[in-house]
Amino acid sequence: MRAASPRSAQLSGYAGIANTQVTPLHEVQLENIHRFSSNTAELDRVLGGGIVLGSVVLIGGDPGIGKSTLLLQAMCQLSLSHKALYVTGEESMQQVALRAHRLGLPQQQLQLLPETNVERILAVAAQIKPQVMVIDSIQTMNTDLLQSAPGGVGQVRECAAQLVRFAKNTGTTVFLVGHVTKEGMLAGPRVLEHMVDTVLYFEGEADNRIRLIRAIKNRFGAVNELGVFAMTEKGLKEVNNPSAIFLSRSSEPASGSVVMVTWEGSRPMLVEVQALVDTTHLANPRRVTVGLDSNRLAMLLAVLHRHGGIATYDQDVFVNVVGGVRVAETGADLAVLLAILSSLRNRPLPNDLIVFGEVGLSGEIRPVPSGQERLREAAKHGFKRAIVPKANAPKGGIDNMDIISVRQLAEALGQL
Ligand code: TYD
Ligand code: MG
Repeated sequence: MRAASPRSAQLSGYAGIANTQVTPLHEVQLENIHRFSSNTAELDRVLGGGIVLGSVVLIGGDPGIGKSTLLLQAMCQLSLSHKALYVTGEESMQQVALRAHRLGLPQQQLQLLPETNVERILAVAAQIKPQVMVIDSIQTMNTDLLQSAPGGVGQVRECAAQLVRFAKNTGTTVFLVGHVTKEGMLAGPRVLEHMVDTVLYFEGEADNRIRLIRAIKNRFGAVNELGVFAMTEKGLKEVNNPSAIFLSRSSEPASGSVVMVTWEGSRPMLVEVQALVDTTHLANPRRVTVGLDSNRLAMLLAVLHRHGGIATYDQDVFVNVVGGVRVAETGADLAVLLAILSSLRNRPLPNDLIVFGEVGLSGEIRPVPSGQERLREAAKHGFKRAIVPKANAPKGGIDNMDIISVRQLAEALGQL
């Protein structure tokens, strides 16, 4: 007889507790994902193509940014074709009804429940069996299982866990509203991100009407998909052509302004990048960005100095993406550098020029994904000239567009 190896001897110690089964990956039965439209195209887009049955969606954002407005609008529309329940823990029934009335929403079919106790909510939901349920907001909910005050991490987590379990067991789609809390994110939506299928965050400035909804996590679709809305007196209106709204600039060319094509999720978007470069009076000149990563700006200024021979150590540099958009992709690099140079030299760039491309540390201009689609979007909006990375220039060109392809920063700077 062969002596047992030390490894199998060690493993045999665990054998007694193995009573659950493993399955070979290829034998797992694939279930179709059932989706239905929310009747709001921009919301469907960020959800990955519609609402998934039995999924749990977390919608986070600053208080007052429009979470309740969006969900009330969507639920009223949805209730015409699906059974929908709106649980309001924050506003009274009167307040919700008043808003629905003011916005002229269809109100006949939507069920309203003013309640903050999760056990009671689930008991009601088990009776009326909604297909979609909104919890507004998760921070107002409490559970009998815990003694602590509502809004604390424990309560928020436990309430969400019960709602997630209900969604999975019954196939109900649940939308959780979560306020982003200013003083740390402790009891905010962040602690729930791992429990839910999809996480959407509202972005936007309080003094601006544009509201962006970005998918941060999605088990049923692409992340970084962006939905664009505008807050009006009549509620949130979808913006189906975001490029048009972010590009409302004057026809006079101004120095420091460059239009770039960014890629958001599955579509291109034209946005204006503005730079202001001004002599500094500080030992540490200021580098300020709005809508861009400030570390990236510091890096770009170093590349501009090292490979373009243009120094900014005695200049304050401010860079802003117009319209409250956040551009997280590196395709903005070249546009940022050209905007800075335009402001520094006080020389406007042509009004019909668009720019995109990543700038590497050795001054090389690197290609970005979906170059052709970006160029086509620009051509659609009447842009006639483009400065783009060499590898992004289409072989056959683009109709009515003069494309300048560049490999090195020096070439791009030479084009101005
Ligand atoms: P709300 O949806 O209540 O925000 P949240 O649920 O995220 O806290 O949004 C309220 C804000 O939106 C409020 O400040 C007023 C504004 N608003 C409009 O401008 N127009 C409208 O039609 C509605 C309903 C709200
Ligand atoms: Mg609200």
